[in-house]
Amino acid sequence: MTMKDGQTKKSYIFSLTLTITFLHCSCLPHNTEANTFSHKAEEIASYAKVAQIIIDLAVHGKAQNRSYERLAEFTDSIGNRISGSKNLDLAIKYMYNALRKDGLENVHLEPVTIPHWVRGEESAMMLSPQNRTLAILGLGSSVATPKEGIEAEVLVVESFEELKNRAVEASGKIVVYNQPFVSYGKTVQYREFGASEAAKVGAVATLIRSITPFSINSPHTGWQDYQDGVKKIPTACITVEDAVMMARMARRHQKIAVRLTMEAQTFPDVGSFNTVAEIVGSEHPEQVVLLSGHLDSWDVGQGAMDDAGGALISWEALSLLKDLGLRPRRTLRTVMWSAEEQGGVGAQQYFQLHKENISNFDLVMESDMGTFTPQGLQFTGSTQARAIMAEVVKLLKPINTTNLEEHAEGTDIQMWMDAGVPGASLHVADSRYFWFHHTDGDTMSVQNPLEMNLCSALWAVVAYVVADLEEMLPR
Ligand SMILES: *[C@@H]1O[C@H](CO)[C@@H](O)[C@H](O)[C@H]1NC(C)=O
Ligand SMILES: *[C@@H]1O[C@H](CO)[C@@H](O)[C@H](O)[C@H]1NC(C)=O
Ligand SMILES: *[C@@H]1O[C@H](CO)[C@@H](O)[C@H](O)[C@H]1NC(C)=O
Ligand SMILES: *[C@@H]1O[C@H](CO)[C@@H](O)[C@H](O)[C@H]1NC(C)=O
Ligand SMILES: [Zn+2]
Repeated sequence: MTMKDGQTKKSYIFSLTLTITFLHCSCLPHNTEANTFSHKAEEIASYAKVAQIIIDLAVHGKAQNRSYERLAEFTDSIGNRISGSKNLDLAIKYMYNALRKDGLENVHLEPVTIPHWVRGEESAMMLSPQNRTLAILGLGSSVATPKEGIEAEVLVVESFEELKNRAVEASGKIVVYNQPFVSYGKTVQYREFGASEAAKVGAVATLIRSITPFSINSPHTGWQDYQDGVKKIPTACITVEDAVMMARMARRHQKIAVRLTMEAQTFPDVGSFNTVAEIVGSEHPEQVVLLSGHLDSWDVGQGAMDDAGGALISWEALSLLKDLGLRPRRTLRTVMWSAEEQGGVGAQQYFQLHKENISNFDLVMESDMGTFTPQGLQFTGSTQARAIMAEVVKLLKPINTTNLEEHAEGTDIQMWMDAGVPGASLHVADSRYFWFHHTDGDTMSVQNPLEMNLCSALWAVVAYVVADLEEMLPR
């Protein structure tokens, strides 16, 4: 059932516009196109009332704070959920049961194979010029140190270029990268590739300044990539404060020595699942609007922000529509991905399996930059699709999020977008996102129920309207 009205009025306006165009037209192809679009704009505008109803339920009505409360119960019960862990298994079971209990359709698990890296005990001790414990977090996929640790002098560099220029000094040292934070996208290359670059010039381990614009002495973990054919050396992140301190010491030519001990271990890949729930489409059940977030997290904090929040609003969007008895023409499918943090592993396997039906994927959506106050929708797609989406976001006027922006992002939806499927991601007020990202500080305390209500409303309106339009988005 749909609650959309104005169908008759819309058809009337459409035929009226056609007649007028026909009477005045000397360049039929162009005007027909413009006309088709004005028909589409009318069609979309006719959803204003239902959009308001969805927003009212999420923001002011019975569903107020529900996504936050669900998120809190989930993260307080399960905690963090790294790929390959018992906790991730528990999280998937929890969600499977919760989605079924909520009355969603086709709730099921799709098997995937994911990495299993375990941090183990780890510590770092500065031995010179002072005895001091350094707060560290080993990086995902790092190898261990020998049992007794690695004790070595430190070489501090600010960039890969400086490392190259000082290559002769690096041999046998622990390289500390004190790269300034420019942006996550630019700066994260030090976390990803720092170990192999240092190993190439003979370093024995790396300690990398955490990738964050702001710090209260907390280290940030994350995935790192060893380069093929380069010696694998242990690698961890240190705090901004300690990296900057060691840079000051180095400038004063003080001898810095550190002992690093890490037990990290990589085990064989393990079985896991992407978790799926649907509202099946009434007219084109095989055509899909996909909403998503990832269920795995790092093994610190609660993984509330990254990315249980995104998974929870993707669930909440379906709950809101179910509560209102709204069944769009196409299927709405929520997917909670497994092992995003290891490089979108669960999503890659989903894509490989489902790409045979790529022509039935209407829009793929992911929220993975936090669920703070929404600012707009980021969109990747053709010019024609963008014009349609610009009309769709106008329906979000009641929550002030009518911006349609460039470039949807999301590790888990990227393959689809690369293959030409329109993609959308949630843009939120994320200025604090990287303060908490991949740290012990990623807890429920970062989340706000009112902000999540707005995110859920936006997510539900966009997904519902796109799934219910007469036509799929053009590619
Ligand atoms: C939702 O959360 C806000 C902020 O914490 C609170 O003021 C409000 O009373 C809550 N609403 C419900 C229905 O619990
Ligand atoms: C640091 O600790 C070691 C023992 O672990 C001790 O021998 C050394 O004197 C200490 N150095 C300073 C500066 O306190
Ligand atoms: C692709 O679509 C067909 C027809 O709807 C369906 O039978 C098949 O199971 C789909 N493939 C996958 C991997 O879902
Ligand atoms: C939207 O913006 C207007 C004007 O700035 C403001 O009065 C209103 O409270 C905002 N609404 C929401 C839901 O943020
Ligand atoms: Zn994430």
